[in-house]
Amino acid sequence: MPETVPLDFLGDLRRTHTCGELRACHAGARALLMGWVHRRRDLGGVIFIHLRDRDGVTQVVFHAEADPELHRKAELLRSEYVVAVEGRVERRAAETVNPAIATGEVELVAERLWILNDAKTPPFPMEDNVDVSEEVRLKYRYVDLRRPRMQRNIILRSKISFAVRQQLYAMGFLEIETPFLTRSTPEGARDYLVPSRLQPGCFYALPQSPQLFKQLLMVGGYEKYFQIVRCFRDEDLRADRQPEFTQIDLEMSFPQPERIFEVVEPVVQAACRVAGFEVEAPFPRLSYEQAMRSYGSDKPDLRLPPFHTVEDLFAETALASDGLPLVAIRIPGAAGASRKEREELKTYGGERGLRVYDDVKRLERDFPGPVAAVRERAAATPDDLLLLAGWNGPPRGHRPAETVLQACGQLRLFAGQKFNDRHRLLDPRKLCWLWVVDFPMFEWNDEEQRWDAAHHPFTSVHEEDLDKLLSDPAACRAKSYDLVLNGVELGSGSIRIHRRDVQAKVFRALGFSDEEARRRFGFLLDALEYGAPPHGGIALGLDRLVMILAGENTIRDVIPFPKTASGTDLMCDAPAPVPERQLRELGIQLLERT
Ligand code: AMO
Repeated sequence: MPETVPLDFLGDLRRTHTCGELRACHAGARALLMGWVHRRRDLGGVIFIHLRDRDGVTQVVFHAEADPELHRKAELLRSEYVVAVEGRVERRAAETVNPAIATGEVELVAERLWILNDAKTPPFPMEDNVDVSEEVRLKYRYVDLRRPRMQRNIILRSKISFAVRQQLYAMGFLEIETPFLTRSTPEGARDYLVPSRLQPGCFYALPQSPQLFKQLLMVGGYEKYFQIVRCFRDEDLRADRQPEFTQIDLEMSFPQPERIFEVVEPVVQAACRVAGFEVEAPFPRLSYEQAMRSYGSDKPDLRLPPFHTVEDLFAETALASDGLPLVAIRIPGAAGASRKEREELKTYGGERGLRVYDDVKRLERDFPGPVAAVRERAAATPDDLLLLAGWNGPPRGHRPAETVLQACGQLRLFAGQKFNDRHRLLDPRKLCWLWVVDFPMFEWNDEEQRWDAAHHPFTSVHEEDLDKLLSDPAACRAKSYDLVLNGVELGSGSIRIHRRDVQAKVFRALGFSDEEARRRFGFLLDALEYGAPPHGGIALGLDRLVMILAGENTIRDVIPFPKTASGTDLMCDAPAPVPERQLRELGIQLLERT
């Protein structure tokens, strides 16, 4: 191979077709294709290349006999070279038709070749079925993005965004931008700060969400707003969390929660349709309390059956649990679980404070009546594994029953995942959507010994709980709702507080002094005094939605340039130190980290 390959200019060349377009009906036509050399086979007198672009792959053939000079040029081609080829489309002989590609009935017989760029040997092949570490994929993301799986995901993402926009426009929503350089917007994470050069010592915060601006747009009279918008949160990262992520954010004036659901359901249906799923609406609605009692989670995965509280059946027995829940968990088809698997379930539950009876058969000897009633309540068949779980120790937490139910919810999911391979309990092609409504208004923050807003501090309380805001915060229910898909929180929203007196009261319940509330949210309090309409909205996580619809396990696989768990961009090596001069300009001096 020569050291350097002579390169051609693009000049006025225009492609006539994409690499996924040619069919038998094009036979005899002339075509000019452009793309990347996907694969190359040199059979001596004949060179075949698979030419790839975003749309597909076409076989191109160079015959030495027909044009020795062109054939010699084709000998220079290597994987991932960028080329333009002009030639004649020919039908392939029946025995050489390639059913694996859409263009497999034809090939392009090359007459001219332009080598537009050469390429180093890529760090990994362009096929999906080659195992490559995520670190290498992210370092060479521009190469990884060419692989079929990433192309599929990123194209799906674009189509979903388009479908969402279309649907919202059709329902009268306006797409309106809100600032990125702003003040802190409390959503429970740390802010990313941006120093101001013009006002040294002052910082902008990147928005954790457009929450306050969208509310102010309602005060501004726009009635229906949406935005597909980047949000920034400095928090611990996981498979479904990135420091910058995208929300489908919307807000309406004069809605009840049901009105918001009526808007969101067709948006979600449109997104699912793009990915090949037909979804029925309306989605089921569950109150937070029901979700806790039946699934031990505020984001239940409905692909597994609910569990059942059965403490009433054991009231007079040694299993009675001081008023705390006793829970029967049914795992369909898993009766044949091995001793080792049962021990694993017990250990997992034990680590979360539970005492787990892995075999109700053994309990049956001592409690025949109650166990029969448990079986009936859980609709358990002899094929199912039926676990019984109760609390092992003194009550814990501010809502002790909830602590037990949550641990049981985790055990339910763990068991479901454990037997998934054998019994296909969590089929990714099954989409179980639901709304969880009526969350508690406040959550106890044990570390700081105070109440936090369960959603955010701008969420309305149920009218009948208004009087309890200061006297009994634990009992207050919020007009908030989550959209849940297969155990993932996909969206969250609420009806907002539109009255200044109520907002001030909620700030007080959250422990903000009037001065602090004024300092942080004075502009909102002011705006509420200038004719703020009742309003509410929601934000859906676009990355999470695409992840599930694409059948992926992490949002990193549906984001073109994601960050690692430590918040690093491995490709461009961000974050990075900056020159001293830039810091001086901003009035910033770095301290040694202790
Ligand atoms: P919330 O904070 O619940 O609500 O966020 C809404 C949705 O955004 C997604 N999401 C994330 N996705 C990826 N990475 C993250 N770090 C991340 N954080 C959140 C989730 C979540 O359900 N302003 C309110 C909405 C409202 O009240 O209208 C808000 O931001 O899918």
